[in-house]
Amino acid sequence: MTEKKVALVTGAGGGMGLPTVRRLVADGFRVAALDLNTTELKKMIEDEGLDAVAYEFDATSEERCRAVVAQVKADFGRIDAFVNMIGWTASSRFVEEQSGYWQKLVAINFMPVVYMSHAIAPIMIEQGGGKMLFVTSDAGKVGTSGEAVYAGLKGGVIAFAKSVAREWARYKINVNCTAPGPTDTPLEADQDPELVARRMKVIPFRRMAKPEEQASAIAFFVSDDANYITGQVLSISGGLTMQ
Ligand SMILES: NC(=O)c1ccc[n+]([C@@H]2O[C@H](COP(=O)([O-])OP(=O)(O)OC[C@H]3O[C@@H](n4cnc5c(N)ncnc54)[C@H](O)[C@@H]3O)[C@@H](O)[C@H]2O)c1
Repeated sequence: MTEKKVALVTGAGGGMGLPTVRRLVADGFRVAALDLNTTELKKMIEDEGLDAVAYEFDATSEERCRAVVAQVKADFGRIDAFVNMIGWTASSRFVEEQSGYWQKLVAINFMPVVYMSHAIAPIMIEQGGGKMLFVTSDAGKVGTSGEAVYAGLKGGVIAFAKSVAREWARYKINVNCTAPGPTDTPLEADQDPELVARRMKVIPFRRMAKPEEQASAIAFFVSDDANYITGQVLSISGGLTMQ
């Protein structure tokens, strides 16, 4: 019997995270599911009997990121896929913001991808390959009013992904991004209702994505069906952005 593949998923307890854990388990992965808050995650894993383990960690700490990667490697023996879903923003006018807010955005939206992928890449290199998928945002491709710094950081993650995709292709590590548009999760519920209503009008499908529709694209990129795809960014946004 072949050994099951292992996926390490961060932001696993969030609106997109929970259905992604469920989907990856259904696709045959054993899942290490990481989040700052694991209450709902643990409940889902137990209630549904999923082949997954929840780990609580704060991804703004490089030390904690490195420690949890080492723990997952020790517990599961390997890491075949890494999915980063951690992200956060509020919505405000850039000129009215303070630098403390920007520092928090950098710490949550950019640095965890750097810390985690730096810790995980050597494991994948030793194993002979792997898949990384960073959940970014259409904001990082086309900008969004009310989310200027978040958009800049998501664009930074996209450029980072393309750069490491080039560096790591020789190790058979694929690095890709999904770029969700508005998706029906608690993160979107925190947004300014006026801005959300305005955005709905420009989405050809006239509705937000369901979190499961984000999970299915993520599952594709970490599957063998994506073996020849790297450095790409796929918008899952009901046609909001077309390229
Ligand atoms: N929901 C949307 O409309 C939307 C649109 C575009 C992009 N995105 C992106 O999709 C991803 C998932 O978003 P979501 O809607 O599921 O959001 P969410 O808020 O439901 O989930 C994000 C998860 O990240 C976790 N997290 C936050 N800070 C953390 C930290 N320091 N350490 C560890 N975990 C931490 C949270 O606990 C939460 O469970 C994010 O990267 C977000 O930026 C979402």
